Amino acid sequence: MSDQKLVLLGVTGGIAAYKAVELVRLLQYSGLEVKVVMTEHATEFVGPATFRALSGHEVALDLFEDPGKPIHHISLSAEPDCFVIAPATANVIAKIAQGVADDLLTTTVLAYKGPLVIAPAMNEAMLTDVATQENLALLQARGVRIVDPENGYLACGDVGAGRLADIALICEAVVAELSRCKDLEGKHVVVTAGPTQEPIDAVRFISNHSSGKMGYALAREAKSRGAEVTLITGPVGLRAPEGITIVDVSTAVDMGVALEQAATDADIIVCAAAVSDFRPVEVSDRKLKKDSADVQALETIHLVENPDLLARVCALRAAGSLKRDPVIIGFAAETDAVVANARKKLASKSADLIVANDISRDDIGFGSDYNEVVIATHDGEETIGAAPKQIISQEIFDRLIDHL
Ligand code: PMT
Repeated sequence: MSDQKLVLLGVTGGIAAYKAVELVRLLQYSGLEVKVVMTEHATEFVGPATFRALSGHEVALDLFEDPGKPIHHISLSAEPDCFVIAPATANVIAKIAQGVADDLLTTTVLAYKGPLVIAPAMNEAMLTDVATQENLALLQARGVRIVDPENGYLACGDVGAGRLADIALICEAVVAELSRCKDLEGKHVVVTAGPTQEPIDAVRFISNHSSGKMGYALAREAKSRGAEVTLITGPVGLRAPEGITIVDVSTAVDMGVALEQAATDADIIVCAAAVSDFRPVEVSDRKLKKDSADVQALETIHLVENPDLLARVCALRAAGSLKRDPVIIGFAAETDAVVANARKKLASKSADLIVANDISRDDIGFGSDYNEVVIATHDGEETIGAAPKQIISQEIFDRLIDHL
């Protein structure tokens, strides 16, 4: 059986469709097999016969056309190692962002679960419209790789942004996605995410503003790179990524138990959860009433320090108690002296890497789809500028690979 990778190239209806012909060749020169799916509008710009001749495969055009495979979009979506859409029109980008599936290309995208690369091409006014920008941001936040269009002469005669990116860059993005997919294969990655809740009584608890978005993005990224993933999550309102083991916990102590269990055969441990540092000493199993003798218990809640879960797994590793000597990463949620505090945590907890973020800002950190981080290692530090948490996760794993 051939281990040649298969790329599905989606071509949509824009003047840049002719450049997709050259992209087929470039992908083939990179050792990839290419199949093509076109929208009806794309066929107005380039004939399917061109793609059929170059790719050596029938071009997929119609939802109901393949008699051998009656549910064509499902069989088509199961085949490729990477799906690239170039050029992608504003219309198709909007449909993909919203889950609209009304032709073969868009139904195939919806059913497809692998790496997706989108290379937009359109008029500048359409590209810069808030709707298109929001759709692109949404897709990027979900882990889709966007190959930004270039500035230059556009089909309408204007000069501006919107011209399809150089096809060499699109090809590079596909190759990068394909290699990225494999680099954690055979590895067990454990991620903690979200807040902990430390109960006071039957209705109240101490917690924080963590939404779980950062940890879930990291888990999704590890999964997409081929890892077996265990996500230990505090209470969040997020949909669990598919194909990973989810361990739901509530308190720091429960998170610690789950973490130590998963850590025994982990290759990488990423502690992105916002663990409460303290918990109430006394927990009432009924609701404390403010208009009763309970008021004193409510006014004076005695706290005890929670175990430091990150420091604990690092200590277990140092003691040789973890089978695979994992790489261990912590996060640092800071409001000031971000780098200095990250370095302190790196040393005090004996982690390999600390990812520091400024949680005093509204546009990144807690709750946001975006983050901006400083990655501190024992050799120095590096800033990753503001980007969707999914992209930040890619950057973190790209650097982490060197520590394996
Ligand atoms: O969830 P989001 O809304 O997406 O927000 C993301 C985030 C801001 C929560 C995330 O990026 C982040 O910074 N997570 C770490 C939050 C935190 O607890 O930081 P810290 O500086 O207090 O702790 C440092 C490290 O020690 C962290 O890896 C933490 O998981 C760990 N820790 C802390 C306390 C404790 N008792 N046990 C721990 O293991």
